[in-house]
Amino acid sequence: MDAILVTGGAGFVGLNLVEALLARGEHVVVFGRETALPDPAPAVLGKLPGRLELVPGDVTDAAALREVFRARRIGAVFPFAAVTAGPGREAADPHAVLDVNLHGLIRTLEAARDAGGVRRVVLPSSSAIYGESAYSHAVLDEATTPPVPISLYGVTKYAAERGGLRLAGLWGLDAVVARIGPAFGPWERDTGLRDTLSAHRAVARAALRGEEAVLPPAPLPTYDWVYSRDLAQGLLALLDAREPPHRVVNLSSGIDWAPHYAACFDLLASRVPGFRWRHAGPGETPTIALNETRPRGVMAIARAADFGWRPRHDPLAAWADYADWLLAGGEAGLG
Ligand SMILES: NC(=O)c1ccc[n+]([C@@H]2O[C@H](COP(=O)([O-])OP(=O)(O)OC[C@H]3O[C@@H](n4cnc5c(N)ncnc54)[C@H](O)[C@@H]3O)[C@@H](O)[C@H]2O)c1
Repeated sequence: MDAILVTGGAGFVGLNLVEALLARGEHVVVFGRETALPDPAPAVLGKLPGRLELVPGDVTDAAALREVFRARRIGAVFPFAAVTAGPGREAADPHAVLDVNLHGLIRTLEAARDAGGVRRVVLPSSSAIYGESAYSHAVLDEATTPPVPISLYGVTKYAAERGGLRLAGLWGLDAVVARIGPAFGPWERDTGLRDTLSAHRAVARAALRGEEAVLPPAPLPTYDWVYSRDLAQGLLALLDAREPPHRVVNLSSGIDWAPHYAACFDLLASRVPGFRWRHAGPGETPTIALNETRPRGVMAIARAADFGWRPRHDPLAAWADYADWLLAGGEAGLG
């Protein structure tokens, strides 16, 4: 059986994907900066039927990437290693963002090209590519919403999707772009390389530390999340499509979560004795920072449906599942 390479596979999205791949018996190679998987991943993933290899390495190292392909047959690639820089990091070290998110991805494609035998590449893009457009479009549509990325991260993701598709075409690789919405759920932790951890993780952390969660004053802005386990299934749909109906696909929930936060956090409070949450009063500083303060459009998911995928969890079902995961030992991995 050909292996599936996931660069950045020990990160948040990567671990959800790796878990889903192992659950269906795949041979998965995780390549990334980690020398070990974070707890409780070794125990959880070790029970699944697939085979997991962890290869520590850096996507800026072409020789290391070549060696990954030389040592085993790789049939599909998720070049997901990334630095998700906030304003401070992009100002201080713009080269790191470009080196990993763009050049690292291209290096991974080069190694795939040279090895041969790769039947599908799933390129990781982001809702961040919509940038300015997200504030002026109620629905973020792959075909009609102009990408106007703001952050350097968003710029690299757009460059990676366009450049990745271009090079894949030139090099005979079959690539599909996943424009991933803001994710939360199991395995989200601080890798030290992502400055935009979700407000959901912050609320979960507060609850499990016995702290009150104080959110910004109501109402909270329109925002479209995707539950990480749904996202992983969407990525599998892009991997499996024999004749992809589209080459650029949004993967998100396609709904505004703002009206659902209260029910979700109440559900958490019903599971974690003593946990309380509320909105900040006038002049009070919230303890939970939102990822976005302005209302944003939600991502269209009709194209994803053409791949046979739709999110299985509505907000409450997502939080019920996340709470189960946290309370079954996942909290160890929150960081
Ligand atoms: N989390 C989200 O909400 C979200 C949304 C849209 C897109 N994405 C995309 O999903 C992918 C994974 O992001 P994430 O949220 O899991 O981030 P993460 O920070 O949790 O994981 C990133 C992973 O990349 C690896 N990595 C970083 N630099 C590396 C390097 N130089 N060499 C090798 N490995 C390196 C890290 O070791 C880590 O395992 C990224 O491509 C990101 O752009 C994520």
